[in-house]
This record gives sequence, C-alpha cells and structure tokens, in this order.
Amino acid sequence: MKLAIPAEPAQHESRVAATPETVAAFVKLGFKVSVQAGAGEASQFPDQQYTDAGASLGKTAEATVKDADIVLRVLRPTAAEVAKYKKNSLVIGIMEPSDNRAGIDAMAKAGVAAFAMEYMPRITRAQVMDVLSSQANLAGYQSVIDAAAEFDRAMPMMMTAAGTISPARVFVMGAGVAGLQAIATARRLGAAVSATDVRPAAKEQVESLAAKFIAVEDEEFKQAETAGGYAKEMSKEYQQKQAELTASHIAKQDIVITTALIPGRPAPVLVTREMVESMKPGSIVVDLAVERGGNCPLSKLGKVVTHNNVKIIGYANVPGRVAASSSSLYARNLKAFVETLVDQEKGALNVDWDDEIIKATLLTRGGKVVHPNLVSQKASPKPRPKAKPKAKPKSTAKSEAKAKGDKS
Ligand code: NAI
Repeated sequence: MKLAIPAEPAQHESRVAATPETVAAFVKLGFKVSVQAGAGEASQFPDQQYTDAGASLGKTAEATVKDADIVLRVLRPTAAEVAKYKKNSLVIGIMEPSDNRAGIDAMAKAGVAAFAMEYMPRITRAQVMDVLSSQANLAGYQSVIDAAAEFDRAMPMMMTAAGTISPARVFVMGAGVAGLQAIATARRLGAAVSATDVRPAAKEQVESLAAKFIAVEDEEFKQAETAGGYAKEMSKEYQQKQAELTASHIAKQDIVITTALIPGRPAPVLVTREMVESMKPGSIVVDLAVERGGNCPLSKLGKVVTHNNVKIIGYANVPGRVAASSSSLYARNLKAFVETLVDQEKGALNVDWDDEIIKATLLTRGGKVVHPNLVSQKASPKPRPKAKPKAKPKSTAKSEAKAKGDKS
C-alpha cells in the first residue's frame, strides 16, 4: 500500500494534509509513505521530520503520487494534477463539491475514487473526521486575533492609576463552531461579548460562555434548525426583523465578527453598508463568510478594506493563517478516515463501500460521478473546440491576495 502527500500548489494554501505524527501512524498501518519535498514547510514541518517519521521524499508532485493507492490533499486536485494519479486510487480532501462541477468531473474522468471530507456526516463515530469543525474552530479563534491586531484600543477593561479603560464590545453573528470559539476567545481577552444566531439551540451555548444572546425569538426561530443541526434560510420577514434588532446593537459595538452560513446557499447579508456607517471610528468587522459571498457586502476576499473609518477584514483561508495548528488537526481528521479504509490485521486496503461515512463522502468512482447530491446536476459542458482568444482577464481580489492575506 502506498500513500502520497503532494504539496498544495494553490496560492492561498499554507496547510498540508499530513504531519510527521500522522505519517508515523500511516507507516505503522503498513503504508509506504511519500511526501513531496517542501510540502510541510508553510506549516512549519520540515522535510527532515517527515523522513524521520518514515516517509520518502518526492522531488515533484508527479514523482510523489506515482503508484499511490491513496493521495491526501487539503484542496481538490486540478484536472492536470489528478490526471497523473493512479486509476482507482483513493483521493481524499476538501473538494468543494457544490462549487465546481468541472473539477468533480475531472476526478471522475481520471478514474479515481474521490472523497469530500466536508460531506462527513455529523454522527458520533465521525466526529474525529469532521474537518468543518476542526478548521472552523481555528478560524473562529483567529478571527478575534485578527480583529485585535487591527483594533486601535485594548480589549480588556483596565483599571489604572490614570483611569479606567472600558472593555471592547464584541458582537458575534452566527454561533456555530467558529462563532462559539470566537466568543470564547474574545471572552478570554476580556471583551464584553454578545452573540446572535437563528437556531434556538445556540442560545444556551452562547450563554454558557458568559455572552449575551440577542435574537428575534419568534415561531420561525423555534423551527429554524434542520435535523442535521444546520440553519435554514430565513424568510424575508424574519431577516427584516433580525436586521431591525441588530442594527441598533451593531452601532454600539467595537468589533463585529460574522460567521453565518447556510449549507448550499450563499451566506446571508447581516451587516449592511448602513450598519457599518453607524459604527464608531476605529471599529472592526471580520467577515468569516467572505469566501461564500460574505455576511457584509463591503468585505473583499483577501483584503482589509476601510469604509468610513471602519476596517472590514475579509481574509481568505483563515484556518491557513494558523497553518501549523490547522494542519495538525486536519491531518488527524484524515488519519482517522484512512484508518477506516484499511484492514489493519492484513495491512491491506479494504474499503467498505456500503459504510455510511463512505457513502456520504464518495463523489466519484469507476469513471462516474456517484454522489446523490451531484448525479442529478448536469455534468459540466464540454469545452468548445475553438475558443476565441479572450481579452486578458482583470485581476481579481482572490488572485491578488497572498497566502497570509494582503491589506489594502
Ligand atoms: P455553519 O458553519 O453552517 O453556520 C454558522 C452559524 O451561522 C450556524 O450556527 C448558523 O445557525 C448561523 N446562521 C445562519 N444564518 C444565520 C442568520 N441569518 N443569522 C445568524 N446566524 C445565522 O454551522 P456549523 O458551525 O457547522 O454548526 C452547525 C451545527 O452543527 C451546530 O448545531 C453545531 O453545534 C453542529 N455540529 C455538530 C457536530 C457533530 O455532531 N459532530 C460537529 C460540529 C458542529
């Protein structure tokens, strides 16, 4: 059995899919492990640590993945990359299945069995493999650190001989995994914290972190949680009531951190231009939903923009801003998943294609797209044989931003 970890070539990606710790565990499971030279560098894992753990080093991505039965990735491989992977190999990563059909079709065409870790069901057995939670948790933490770094005032209350400084007021919108960690982190820094969510279950969780819960608690709110624990898209009327309630609150805040997402939908707009303009000079908005359309229409992917003396932080790949920690947790998520694919006594691959977690995450197999969420979608259109030469595309915010997030 051979397992490969190529480097992540995407511009924003500083994470790596395996750490020396997980490589040692794979070797123990009976894998020959190949890591591309330099793959762990941006996460502070030098090549030497991988070789000490029992891996061999591949000079190029192609050499690394040659003959590999399993390829571990952070992000989905491009069509050109996956074309080099062995047919029927298992390719595991964050695949963004609903955002790029052509990328999924390319994996089917390459004949690999591709698994999307973000489709991991939220059942007890799979908690250890839940990449959304492990990465969102760190994003929530980092959002407060980023806000504090841009904030021109102190976070905690300070009683000094020269007088008292009031604690910063932090409002967290969306109290899922990222939001709860943002609340906890801001509390640890001494801020006065409040939070909102549309799911009733969030109220108790927010209050257990000693933050104030603020929400329109009507009949719709009481029904707002899906069986999977996610938020539903709220009606226009609810959104209007929510905006009225939060507008006056936001005007009094120093820092607003937004994390609100709805599976399969664009992120809801929660902080309007008018709300930003109502905030005091020097206030901060952190939009953690910027990659999914943003909770604030003024945020820009990969940038810190200033509007009316308010800074709006829209860094890309926030977990990648704490790459050593996020890689450690992500790599452990993948290790736990790989363990389910192996007959540990025989030291051989043994995938149970009927297993709930396999069925939930498997996107492509045997040359076809097989995931039920995707089979009903149309395949990506075939490229036209002769495309007219296009004008040079304008650079986008995404292409301009660097791995650690540029400031503008
Ligand atoms: P998410 O990343 O999909 O969304 C973030 C938060 O935004 C959610 O709390 C959502 O309710 C909130 N939101 C959506 N629209 C909003 C609006 N208009 N205004 C305010 N807030 C809004 O959610 P995440 O972090 O993935 O958590 C979803 C649920 O899954 C939670 O109940 C969480 O406790 C649960 N969970 C369960 C796990 C397990 O059983 N293994 C693991 C991790 C989370």
